[in-house]
Amino acid sequence: MSSLHCGNKIWVLIVIVLSINCLLSVSAATFGCTTGQSDDYRNVALQINRQYRTLLAQGKAPNKCGQLPTAKNYYEINWDCGLETSAKVQADNCAMAYSSTPGVGEILFMASAASAKDAVKNGYMKLVNTPVTNGADPDTYSNPNNDWNRIVNYRALYVGCASTLCSGMYKTVCHYDKPAYSNQNLYERGDNCVTDADCTTIIESTCKNGLCIAPPKPDETINTQCPLNPSMNDYARDQLVKWHNYYRALVIKGNEPAAGGRKAPKGKNMYKIKYSCTIEQNAQNYANNCPYPTHSAPGTRTGWGENMAYMSGGTIGENMGKSVGLYYSELLTPGMADLVTNVVSFPGDMGAGHYTQVVWGKTYEIGCGGKLCGTYWHLVCQYNVAGNYNGTTVYEVPITGGNGGCTTDADCTTQAADTCSVSDGLCNRA
Ligand SMILES: *[C@@H]1O[C@H](CO)[C@@H](O)[C@H](O)[C@H]1NC(C)=O
Repeated sequence: MSSLHCGNKIWVLIVIVLSINCLLSVSAATFGCTTGQSDDYRNVALQINRQYRTLLAQGKAPNKCGQLPTAKNYYEINWDCGLETSAKVQADNCAMAYSSTPGVGEILFMASAASAKDAVKNGYMKLVNTPVTNGADPDTYSNPNNDWNRIVNYRALYVGCASTLCSGMYKTVCHYDKPAYSNQNLYERGDNCVTDADCTTIIESTCKNGLCIAPPKPDETINTQCPLNPSMNDYARDQLVKWHNYYRALVIKGNEPAAGGRKAPKGKNMYKIKYSCTIEQNAQNYANNCPYPTHSAPGTRTGWGENMAYMSGGTIGENMGKSVGLYYSELLTPGMADLVTNVVSFPGDMGAGHYTQVVWGKTYEIGCGGKLCGTYWHLVCQYNVAGNYNGTTVYEVPITGGNGGCTTDADCTTQAADTCSVSDGLCNRA
Protein backbone atom coordinates (compact mmCIF):
# COMPACT_ATOMS: atom_id res chain seq x y z
CA MET A 1 0.00 0.00 0.00
CA SER A 2 1.45 3.40 -0.90
CA SER A 3 1.66 6.00 1.82
CA LEU A 4 -0.22 8.45 -0.41
CA HIS A 5 -3.16 6.11 -0.71
CA CYS A 6 -3.15 5.38 2.99
CA GLY A 7 -3.01 9.09 3.87
CA ASN A 8 -5.71 10.18 1.44
CA LYS A 9 -8.13 7.52 2.48
CA ILE A 10 -8.01 8.45 6.13
CA TRP A 11 -7.93 12.19 5.53
CA VAL A 12 -11.39 11.94 4.00
CA LEU A 13 -12.62 10.02 7.03
CA ILE A 14 -11.45 12.52 9.61
CA VAL A 15 -12.89 15.52 7.79
CA ILE A 16 -16.27 13.86 7.78
CA VAL A 17 -16.16 12.87 11.43
CA LEU A 18 -15.13 16.32 12.55
CA SER A 19 -17.70 18.16 10.44
CA ILE A 20 -20.65 16.09 11.61
CA ASN A 21 -19.85 16.38 15.26
CA CYS A 22 -19.11 20.09 15.06
CA LEU A 23 -22.49 20.82 13.55
CA LEU A 24 -24.17 18.98 16.38
CA SER A 25 -22.44 20.82 19.17
CA VAL A 26 -22.32 24.41 17.89
CA SER A 27 -24.13 26.98 20.06
CA ALA A 28 -23.83 24.82 23.15
CA ALA A 29 -21.70 27.03 25.33
CA THR A 30 -21.57 30.62 26.55
CA PHE A 31 -18.01 31.60 27.18
CA GLY A 32 -18.11 35.03 28.80
CA CYS A 33 -14.85 36.22 27.18
CA THR A 34 -14.37 39.88 26.28
CA THR A 35 -12.03 40.11 23.26
CA GLY A 36 -14.92 40.82 20.87
CA GLN A 37 -14.84 37.47 19.07
CA SER A 38 -18.05 35.44 18.77
CA ASP A 39 -19.04 32.41 20.83
CA ASP A 40 -19.66 30.72 17.51
CA TYR A 41 -15.96 31.15 16.72
CA ARG A 42 -14.95 29.78 20.13
CA ASN A 43 -17.27 26.82 19.77
CA VAL A 44 -15.80 25.80 16.43
CA ALA A 45 -12.23 25.98 17.75
CA LEU A 46 -13.09 24.19 21.00
CA GLN A 47 -15.13 21.43 19.39
CA ILE A 48 -12.38 20.60 16.91
CA ASN A 49 -9.95 20.26 19.82
CA ARG A 50 -12.38 18.07 21.72
CA GLN A 51 -13.30 15.90 18.76
CA TYR A 52 -9.70 15.36 17.88
CA ARG A 53 -8.77 14.33 21.41
CA THR A 54 -11.71 11.93 21.49
CA LEU A 55 -10.55 10.30 18.25
CA LEU A 56 -7.01 10.14 19.56
CA ALA A 57 -8.04 8.57 22.88
CA GLN A 58 -10.03 5.92 21.04
CA GLY A 59 -7.24 5.15 18.58
CA LYS A 60 -9.20 6.57 15.64
CA ALA A 61 -7.02 9.57 14.78
CA PRO A 62 -5.25 8.93 11.48
CA ASN A 63 -1.52 8.49 11.21
CA LYS A 64 0.55 8.08 8.04
CA CYS A 65 -0.61 4.50 7.83
CA GLY A 66 -3.21 3.28 10.25
CA GLN A 67 -4.12 5.26 13.35
CA LEU A 68 -2.30 6.86 16.24
CA PRO A 69 -2.25 4.65 19.36
CA THR A 70 -4.96 4.97 22.00
CA ALA A 71 -4.34 7.37 24.88
CA LYS A 72 -4.57 6.56 28.56
CA ASN A 73 -5.93 8.95 31.20
CA TYR A 74 -6.30 11.59 28.49
CA TYR A 75 -8.25 14.79 29.19
CA GLU A 76 -10.76 16.96 27.39
CA ILE A 77 -9.75 20.56 26.59
CA ASN A 78 -11.68 23.57 27.94
CA TRP A 79 -11.77 27.17 26.78
CA ASP A 80 -9.98 29.84 28.78
CA CYS A 81 -10.67 33.55 28.27
CA GLY A 82 -7.23 34.52 29.58
CA LEU A 83 -5.55 32.35 26.93
CA GLU A 84 -7.87 33.86 24.31
CA THR A 85 -6.74 37.32 25.40
CA SER A 86 -3.03 36.46 25.15
CA ALA A 87 -3.66 34.81 21.75
CA LYS A 88 -5.52 37.95 20.58
CA VAL A 89 -2.55 40.15 21.45
CA GLN A 90 -0.36 37.97 19.21
CA ALA A 91 -2.93 37.69 16.39
CA ASP A 92 -3.39 41.46 16.32
CA ASN A 93 0.29 42.21 15.69
CA CYS A 94 0.02 40.47 12.27
CA ALA A 95 3.67 39.35 12.20
CA MET A 96 4.10 35.80 10.87
CA ALA A 97 6.23 34.74 13.81
CA TYR A 98 5.77 32.80 17.01
CA SER A 99 5.69 34.95 20.12
CA SER A 100 7.64 34.27 23.27
CA THR A 101 4.57 34.33 25.52
CA PRO A 102 5.92 32.54 28.60
CA GLY A 103 4.47 29.25 29.82
CA VAL A 104 2.04 28.60 26.96
CA GLY A 105 1.98 26.24 24.00
CA GLU A 106 1.37 28.37 20.91
CA ILE A 107 0.07 27.40 17.49
CA LEU A 108 0.00 29.79 14.58
CA PHE A 109 -1.43 29.80 11.06
CA MET A 110 -1.86 32.44 8.40
CA ALA A 111 -4.21 31.84 5.46
CA SER A 112 -6.98 33.46 3.49
CA ALA A 113 -10.46 32.45 4.60
CA ALA A 114 -14.06 33.65 4.30
CA SER A 115 -14.33 34.46 8.01
CA ALA A 116 -12.45 34.22 11.30
CA LYS A 117 -14.44 31.09 12.07
CA ASP A 118 -13.39 29.46 8.79
CA ALA A 119 -9.80 30.53 9.41
CA VAL A 120 -9.56 28.75 12.75
CA LYS A 121 -11.44 25.73 11.45
CA ASN A 122 -9.32 25.35 8.31
CA GLY A 123 -6.12 25.85 10.25
CA TYR A 124 -6.97 23.12 12.74
CA MET A 125 -8.14 20.72 10.03
CA LYS A 126 -4.79 21.14 8.34
CA LEU A 127 -2.83 20.58 11.56
CA VAL A 128 -4.67 17.46 12.68
CA ASN A 129 -3.93 15.95 9.28
CA THR A 130 -0.17 16.58 9.39
CA PRO A 131 0.51 13.13 10.95
CA VAL A 132 -1.12 11.63 7.86
CA THR A 133 1.58 13.20 5.73
CA ASN A 134 4.54 13.13 8.10
CA GLY A 135 3.84 10.26 10.45
CA ALA A 136 3.72 10.81 14.21
CA ASP A 137 4.49 9.00 17.44
CA PRO A 138 3.18 10.08 20.85
CA ASP A 139 6.35 9.00 22.66
CA THR A 140 8.38 11.95 21.38
CA TYR A 141 7.77 15.51 20.30
CA SER A 142 7.41 15.39 16.54
CA ASN A 143 9.41 18.08 14.74
CA PRO A 144 7.78 17.49 11.33
CA ASN A 145 4.36 17.98 12.91
CA ASN A 146 5.36 21.10 14.90
CA ASP A 147 2.07 22.68 16.06
CA TRP A 148 0.27 19.34 16.16
CA ASN A 149 2.33 18.50 19.29
CA ARG A 150 0.69 21.35 21.16
CA ILE A 151 -2.83 20.20 20.35
CA VAL A 152 -2.27 16.66 21.57
CA ASN A 153 0.02 17.48 24.54
CA TYR A 154 -1.65 15.77 27.50
CA ARG A 155 -0.38 18.43 29.93
CA ALA A 156 -2.58 21.09 28.32
CA LEU A 157 -6.16 21.26 29.60
CA TYR A 158 -7.14 24.75 28.36
CA VAL A 159 -7.02 26.61 25.07
CA GLY A 160 -7.94 30.07 23.78
CA CYS A 161 -7.71 31.25 20.16
CA ALA A 162 -8.00 34.47 18.19
CA SER A 163 -8.03 35.26 14.46
CA THR A 164 -7.27 38.71 13.05
CA LEU A 165 -7.58 39.85 9.43
CA CYS A 166 -4.11 41.05 8.39
CA SER A 167 -3.94 42.51 4.83
CA GLY A 168 -6.28 39.95 3.27
CA MET A 169 -5.12 36.95 5.31
CA TYR A 170 -6.29 35.74 8.72
CA LYS A 171 -3.62 35.32 11.33
CA THR A 172 -4.79 32.74 13.85
CA VAL A 173 -3.06 32.11 17.18
CA CYS A 174 -4.12 29.55 19.79
CA HIS A 175 -2.58 29.38 23.23
CA TYR A 176 -2.60 26.22 25.36
CA ASP A 177 -2.05 26.45 29.10
CA LYS A 178 1.01 24.17 28.98
CA PRO A 179 3.79 23.89 26.41
CA ALA A 180 4.77 20.60 24.77
CA TYR A 181 8.37 19.80 25.68
CA SER A 182 10.71 18.71 22.95
CA ASN A 183 12.23 15.76 24.84
CA GLN A 184 9.05 14.37 26.39
CA ASN A 185 6.05 12.30 25.39
CA LEU A 186 2.85 13.87 24.11
CA TYR A 187 0.51 11.44 25.80
CA GLU A 188 0.66 8.09 27.55
CA ARG A 189 -0.13 5.12 25.35
CA GLY A 190 -2.64 2.69 26.79
CA ASP A 191 -6.33 1.88 26.87
CA ASN A 192 -8.59 4.91 26.85
CA CYS A 193 -10.71 5.44 29.95
CA VAL A 194 -13.81 3.33 30.41
CA THR A 195 -14.80 4.22 33.98
CA ASP A 196 -14.35 7.40 36.02
CA ALA A 197 -11.72 5.59 38.09
CA ASP A 198 -9.47 5.49 35.00
CA CYS A 199 -9.18 9.30 35.12
CA THR A 200 -6.62 10.00 37.82
CA THR A 201 -4.88 13.30 37.05
CA ILE A 202 -7.58 15.49 38.55
CA ILE A 203 -9.80 14.33 41.40
CA GLU A 204 -13.52 13.90 40.67
CA SER A 205 -12.96 13.51 36.93
CA THR A 206 -15.37 11.49 34.83
CA CYS A 207 -14.88 9.39 31.70
CA LYS A 208 -16.91 10.09 28.58
CA ASN A 209 -16.34 8.49 25.16
CA GLY A 210 -12.84 7.46 26.18
CA LEU A 211 -11.87 10.98 27.23
CA CYS A 212 -11.43 12.15 30.82
CA ILE A 213 -13.47 15.20 31.80
CA ALA A 214 -12.19 17.41 34.62
CA PRO A 215 -14.79 18.80 37.03
CA PRO A 216 -15.61 22.49 36.52
CA LYS A 217 -12.84 24.72 37.83
CA PRO A 218 -13.89 25.72 41.36
CA ASP A 219 -13.97 29.37 42.38
CA GLU A 220 -11.26 29.49 45.01
CA THR A 221 -11.89 33.16 45.79
CA ILE A 222 -14.99 32.34 47.87
CA ASN A 223 -14.14 32.50 51.56
CA THR A 224 -17.30 32.62 53.68
CA GLN A 225 -16.83 29.74 56.13
CA CYS A 226 -13.82 31.11 58.01
CA PRO A 227 -13.51 34.65 56.58
CA LEU A 228 -10.82 35.75 59.03
CA ASN A 229 -8.27 33.53 57.27
CA PRO A 230 -7.64 34.82 53.73
CA SER A 231 -5.14 32.02 52.98
CA MET A 232 -7.85 29.35 52.78
CA ASN A 233 -11.11 29.16 50.84
CA ASP A 234 -14.42 27.30 50.99
CA TYR A 235 -13.55 24.91 48.17
CA ALA A 236 -10.38 23.81 50.01
CA ARG A 237 -12.36 23.27 53.23
CA ASP A 238 -15.11 21.36 51.44
CA GLN A 239 -12.53 19.12 49.80
CA LEU A 240 -10.96 18.34 53.16
CA VAL A 241 -14.25 17.43 54.82
CA LYS A 242 -15.46 15.55 51.80
CA TRP A 243 -12.39 13.35 51.34
CA HIS A 244 -11.88 12.67 55.02
CA ASN A 245 -15.47 11.45 55.31
CA TYR A 246 -15.24 9.62 52.01
CA TYR A 247 -12.33 7.52 53.22
CA ARG A 248 -13.78 7.08 56.70
CA ALA A 249 -17.06 5.78 55.29
CA LEU A 250 -15.18 3.57 52.85
CA VAL A 251 -12.72 1.95 55.23
CA ILE A 252 -15.35 0.77 57.74
CA LYS A 253 -17.01 -1.37 55.08
CA GLY A 254 -14.07 -3.76 55.44
CA ASN A 255 -13.15 -4.05 51.77
CA GLU A 256 -10.22 -1.68 51.52
CA PRO A 257 -6.99 -3.26 50.30
CA ALA A 258 -4.14 -3.05 52.79
CA ALA A 259 -0.46 -4.03 52.72
CA GLY A 260 0.33 -7.73 52.50
CA GLY A 261 -2.79 -8.64 50.51
CA ARG A 262 -4.96 -7.99 53.57
CA LYS A 263 -7.96 -5.74 54.06
CA ALA A 264 -8.63 -3.04 56.60
CA PRO A 265 -11.15 -4.35 59.17
CA LYS A 266 -14.78 -3.29 59.26
CA GLY A 267 -15.38 -0.42 61.64
CA LYS A 268 -18.11 0.94 63.89
CA ASN A 269 -18.86 4.06 65.89
CA MET A 270 -16.75 6.16 63.51
CA TYR A 271 -17.33 9.92 63.74
CA LYS A 272 -18.20 12.05 60.75
CA ILE A 273 -15.69 14.92 60.48
CA LYS A 274 -16.77 18.55 60.81
CA TYR A 275 -14.74 21.62 59.95
CA SER A 276 -13.47 24.03 62.62
CA CYS A 277 -12.33 27.61 61.95
CA THR A 278 -10.62 27.72 65.35
CA ILE A 279 -8.45 24.74 64.46
CA GLU A 280 -7.89 26.15 60.97
CA GLN A 281 -6.48 29.39 62.38
CA ASN A 282 -4.06 27.47 64.56
CA ALA A 283 -2.96 25.29 61.62
CA GLN A 284 -2.64 28.37 59.40
CA ASN A 285 -0.47 30.19 61.94
CA TYR A 286 1.89 27.24 61.87
CA ALA A 287 1.79 26.76 58.07
CA ASN A 288 2.80 30.41 57.68
CA ASN A 289 6.29 29.43 58.89
CA CYS A 290 6.83 27.14 55.83
CA PRO A 291 7.51 24.40 58.38
CA TYR A 292 7.48 21.15 56.38
CA PRO A 293 8.56 18.51 57.47
CA THR A 294 8.78 19.60 61.10
CA HIS A 295 5.62 19.13 63.14
CA SER A 296 4.40 21.89 65.45
CA ALA A 297 5.21 21.55 69.13
CA PRO A 298 2.34 19.61 70.77
CA GLY A 299 1.93 22.43 73.32
CA THR A 300 0.95 24.85 70.53
CA ARG A 301 -2.05 22.77 69.47
CA THR A 302 -3.81 21.85 72.73
CA GLY A 303 -3.49 18.14 72.16
CA TRP A 304 -4.73 18.12 68.57
CA GLY A 305 -3.22 15.69 66.07
CA GLU A 306 -1.41 16.91 62.96
CA ASN A 307 -0.81 15.78 59.38
CA MET A 308 1.44 17.70 57.03
CA ALA A 309 2.00 17.56 53.28
CA TYR A 310 4.37 19.19 50.81
CA MET A 311 3.16 19.56 47.21
CA SER A 312 4.14 21.56 44.14
CA GLY A 313 1.92 23.13 41.50
CA GLY A 314 -1.84 23.52 41.62
CA THR A 315 -4.01 25.52 43.97
CA ILE A 316 -4.43 25.21 47.71
CA GLY A 317 -7.87 23.62 47.20
CA GLU A 318 -6.64 21.02 44.71
CA ASN A 319 -3.72 20.13 46.94
CA MET A 320 -5.79 19.93 50.13
CA GLY A 321 -8.11 17.50 48.30
CA LYS A 322 -5.23 15.41 46.95
CA SER A 323 -3.35 15.35 50.26
CA VAL A 324 -6.09 13.31 51.95
CA GLY A 325 -5.78 10.61 49.29
CA LEU A 326 -2.01 10.56 49.75
CA TYR A 327 -2.36 10.15 53.51
CA TYR A 328 -4.89 7.38 53.01
CA SER A 329 -2.61 5.49 50.58
CA GLU A 330 -0.39 4.54 53.53
CA LEU A 331 -2.92 1.80 54.30
CA LEU A 332 -1.53 -0.03 51.27
CA THR A 333 2.06 1.22 51.48
CA PRO A 334 3.67 0.74 53.94
CA GLY A 335 0.52 -0.44 55.80
CA MET A 336 0.01 -1.07 59.50
CA ALA A 337 0.84 -4.24 61.39
CA ASP A 338 -2.40 -5.25 63.10
CA LEU A 339 -5.58 -5.29 61.05
CA VAL A 340 -7.50 -7.62 63.35
CA THR A 341 -7.82 -5.72 66.61
CA ASN A 342 -6.82 -2.56 64.66
CA VAL A 343 -4.50 -1.38 67.44
CA VAL A 344 -1.60 0.89 66.49
CA SER A 345 1.83 0.23 67.84
CA PHE A 346 4.66 2.71 67.66
CA PRO A 347 7.27 2.97 66.36
CA GLY A 348 6.33 -0.02 64.14
CA ASP A 349 3.22 1.64 62.65
CA MET A 350 4.79 5.08 62.30
CA GLY A 351 4.91 4.79 58.50
CA ALA A 352 1.12 4.78 58.28
CA GLY A 353 0.64 7.57 60.81
CA HIS A 354 -1.07 9.89 58.33
CA TYR A 355 -3.53 7.14 57.40
CA THR A 356 -4.31 6.27 61.00
CA GLN A 357 -4.99 9.93 61.80
CA VAL A 358 -7.30 10.34 58.76
CA VAL A 359 -9.46 7.39 59.86
CA TRP A 360 -9.04 7.74 63.64
CA GLY A 361 -12.55 6.87 64.82
CA LYS A 362 -12.84 9.32 67.71
CA THR A 363 -11.63 12.35 65.72
CA TYR A 364 -14.58 14.62 64.92
CA GLU A 365 -13.14 18.00 63.89
CA ILE A 366 -10.41 19.23 61.57
CA GLY A 367 -9.02 22.55 60.46
CA CYS A 368 -6.23 23.12 57.96
CA GLY A 369 -4.00 25.88 56.69
CA GLY A 370 -1.49 26.16 53.87
CA LYS A 371 1.13 28.47 52.47
CA LEU A 372 2.95 28.54 49.15
CA CYS A 373 6.64 28.72 50.04
CA GLY A 374 8.67 29.12 46.85
CA THR A 375 7.08 26.58 44.53
CA TYR A 376 5.88 24.21 47.27
CA TRP A 377 2.69 24.23 49.28
CA HIS A 378 3.21 23.53 52.96
CA LEU A 379 -0.08 22.06 54.14
CA VAL A 380 -0.95 21.55 57.80
CA CYS A 381 -4.09 19.82 59.10
CA GLN A 382 -4.87 19.54 62.79
CA TYR A 383 -7.30 17.04 64.29
CA ASN A 384 -9.55 17.08 67.36
CA VAL A 385 -9.27 14.64 69.01
CA ALA A 386 -5.73 13.58 68.20
CA GLY A 387 -5.21 10.08 66.87
CA ASN A 388 -2.23 7.78 67.00
CA TYR A 389 -2.14 6.83 70.69
CA ASN A 390 0.17 3.87 71.05
CA GLY A 391 -1.70 0.69 71.97
CA THR A 392 -5.13 2.14 71.03
CA THR A 393 -7.55 1.08 68.27
CA VAL A 394 -7.55 3.26 65.16
CA TYR A 395 -11.30 2.74 65.00
CA GLU A 396 -13.56 0.27 66.76
CA VAL A 397 -14.02 -3.08 65.08
CA PRO A 398 -17.41 -4.83 65.29
CA ILE A 399 -17.65 -8.33 66.70
CA THR A 400 -17.05 -11.05 64.12
CA GLY A 401 -19.84 -11.08 61.58
CA GLY A 402 -21.08 -7.60 62.64
CA ASN A 403 -21.80 -4.84 60.15
CA GLY A 404 -19.47 -2.00 59.26
CA GLY A 405 -20.89 1.45 60.07
CA CYS A 406 -23.98 2.58 61.98
CA THR A 407 -27.57 1.98 60.91
CA THR A 408 -29.37 3.52 63.93
CA ASP A 409 -28.55 6.18 66.55
CA ALA A 410 -28.10 3.41 69.08
CA ASP A 411 -25.00 2.30 67.14
CA CYS A 412 -23.30 5.61 67.96
CA THR A 413 -22.22 5.17 71.54
CA THR A 414 -19.34 7.58 72.20
CA GLN A 415 -21.75 10.14 73.71
CA ALA A 416 -25.39 9.45 74.60
CA ALA A 417 -26.78 12.08 72.21
CA ASP A 418 -24.72 11.09 69.12
CA THR A 419 -26.75 10.19 66.03
CA CYS A 420 -26.24 8.01 62.99
CA SER A 421 -25.80 9.45 59.52
CA VAL A 422 -27.44 6.50 57.83
CA SER A 423 -26.41 7.39 54.26
CA ASP A 424 -22.71 6.85 54.98
CA GLY A 425 -22.73 4.85 58.24
CA LEU A 426 -20.77 7.53 60.14
CA CYS A 427 -21.77 8.97 63.52
CA ASN A 428 -22.61 12.65 64.05
CA ARG A 429 -21.10 13.98 67.25
CA ALA A 430 -23.73 15.77 69.33
C1 LIG B 1 4.02 1.11 72.20
O1 LIG B 1 3.41 0.01 72.83
C2 LIG B 1 4.13 -1.19 72.66
C3 LIG B 1 3.29 -2.31 73.27
O2 LIG B 1 2.89 -2.01 74.55
C4 LIG B 1 5.49 -1.05 73.32
O3 LIG B 1 6.24 -2.24 73.13
C5 LIG B 1 6.21 0.13 72.68
O4 LIG B 1 7.45 0.34 73.33
C6 LIG B 1 5.39 1.35 72.78
N1 LIG B 1 6.00 2.39 71.97
C7 LIG B 1 6.27 3.59 72.45
C8 LIG B 1 6.92 4.53 71.45
O5 LIG B 1 6.04 3.95 73.58
